[in-house]
Amino acid sequence: MNIYRKIADAMQDPSVSAFVEEEKIGLAEVKHIKEAISQKEKQEEFLDLPEGEDAYPFLTYKHSIRDFLRGEYGFDELAEVPKGVDADFAIPCFSIAMIKGIKPQEAAIEIAEAIKKECAFIERAEVTGGYVNIYVDAKALGQETIVSVETLKEHYGASRAGKRAKVVIEYSSPNAAKPMSVGHLRSTIIGESLKKIYEAQGFTVIGIDHVGDFGTQFGKLLYAISQWKDDDAFAKEPVKEMLRLYVKFHEEAKSDPTLEDKGREMFQKLEAGDAKLARQWADLCAVSADDFEKIYAMLGVKIDLLLGESFYQSRIPDVIARCLEKNIAVKNEDGSVAVNFADEEFPSFLLAKKDGSSLYAARDIAAAEFRLEQFDPVKIIYVVGGEQTLHFRQVFKTLGLLGHDAGKFTHDSFGLVSLPEGKMSTREGRVIFLEDLINESIERARKIVAEKNPELTDAEKKEIAEAVGIGAIIYNDLSQSREKNIQFTWDRALSMEGNSAPYLQYAYARAMSIVKKAGDVPVFVKEHIVIEAEQEQKLVRMIARLPEAVQHAQVAGAPHIVATYLNALVQEFSRFYNECPVLTAEGATRETRLHLVRATAQVIKNGLFLLGIRTLDRM
Ligand code: ARG
Repeated sequence: MNIYRKIADAMQDPSVSAFVEEEKIGLAEVKHIKEAISQKEKQEEFLDLPEGEDAYPFLTYKHSIRDFLRGEYGFDELAEVPKGVDADFAIPCFSIAMIKGIKPQEAAIEIAEAIKKECAFIERAEVTGGYVNIYVDAKALGQETIVSVETLKEHYGASRAGKRAKVVIEYSSPNAAKPMSVGHLRSTIIGESLKKIYEAQGFTVIGIDHVGDFGTQFGKLLYAISQWKDDDAFAKEPVKEMLRLYVKFHEEAKSDPTLEDKGREMFQKLEAGDAKLARQWADLCAVSADDFEKIYAMLGVKIDLLLGESFYQSRIPDVIARCLEKNIAVKNEDGSVAVNFADEEFPSFLLAKKDGSSLYAARDIAAAEFRLEQFDPVKIIYVVGGEQTLHFRQVFKTLGLLGHDAGKFTHDSFGLVSLPEGKMSTREGRVIFLEDLINESIERARKIVAEKNPELTDAEKKEIAEAVGIGAIIYNDLSQSREKNIQFTWDRALSMEGNSAPYLQYAYARAMSIVKKAGDVPVFVKEHIVIEAEQEQKLVRMIARLPEAVQHAQVAGAPHIVATYLNALVQEFSRFYNECPVLTAEGATRETRLHLVRATAQVIKNGLFLLGIRTLDRM
């Protein structure tokens, strides 16, 4: 049951005050989460996860190369392997050439010779221009990698690098009494994936939904309710009725400027704890939260803690007092409180209005302090759209001035999404309901599934359509870099040709069907793995790189690194599949290929899991 329902229920007793109750329930949920965390930590002590890079041959090799370079030449940065070159690593030799006063190519030749002697796992070191391209011995890499996948299974790719440090990730954070927007959908999808990626790197993540459940817009809505509410419509479709009221308020306000003041007054009364308004407020938030939960359930998203902005109310007077005391803020003549930055690095902003009402930024400062105090995180990440960049800079800077380590806060912002249906505007009532968007995706996927595989039962078709339709929406988002504005098109999201969820999901199912047709995959014997054909080598090299992709994605806060990796893996798998017969092969070749297929399936599954996308064995 969501927190607002609990508040509304408790308010059946007239002596209960909404915000006192909210504080109690919120704190109880925080306590519950802390207990769950310590329990999970105890269980995981017994889990045999790799400590860091050492369980993964590819990362171990990389480590050795960098150690060698650092020791011999005083640098250890590797370059990205250029496109079209299928080497495993590339060493850029420009800076060392400069220091030595020789040509980059000469430096590269020297380094290539030296490193071959030092690192036994290197098969070839080729010089092109100022680079050394390193090719590792695919046979050894293959054996070690398959061992790693076979033993770690669903944990392949994970590590304990984060050492259980706590990270708070705030994501989704829609606004109550309004339909969730596509921007919130992005935040939800990106935040959930970041959470999984951080967890896979050994961090303990607390996911928080910072619902916008406070502020003048609630005064406006409460006023609109008092004037124009249609009870029947509200009973049937509360979110649509709230949207209608919101739109109506803004329409009416065009001709009646006093409405804005009436809205403000209503909010002041609510903030002061007016019982009737607070009960209405709790009801509105409760139906909204039900609606959000429906969307989270469709997407398979589970956020640990929902604490709306109103939860932090009681902490704001103290925040303001400290800001005044430390001369971070001043009280203006009209009674409002403003933070001014001495160096004028950012424009000033208000913590409280002249009527004393608290503001968004003040609630954010209180929320940040609460998170620090409760969870002692090494990092707090805000997954919020790019239009709030200035707001977060101001808030983080203020937190720093208050004595907190401002380096702990990061705004992982993202660009806008445009839908084929055009731009949304809540005020004007032009919205796309996310539920409709998701259902349409499922419906379109169902048609594709039925065409591709008519002999499936209806229940199977339904399950596949859901996994594909929802996966398509998620992957469309996560396959593009976070900061970019993205375009949603059905053709791209549901493409079978590549770089889409269905493309990856079908590859997984194909791999699983090969494994199934083979009957028993032979018990794994490392020595039986003999990587020979070129396409076997290429595939195993890709399989070996999942742990690196996960590591990069976490450090960069960029799920698309995992998506890009998976797409490249599946392309390699398709070529392998075309060139290397599996079931008709014999002896060690068959055994090796079967293990490669099974490992590929495992890697696709693990990777898609990190993006929040389901896989099915049969499609
Ligand atoms: N509810 C806000 C909005 O929809 C987003 C909240 C972002 N998080 C925060 N801590 N300010 O714009």
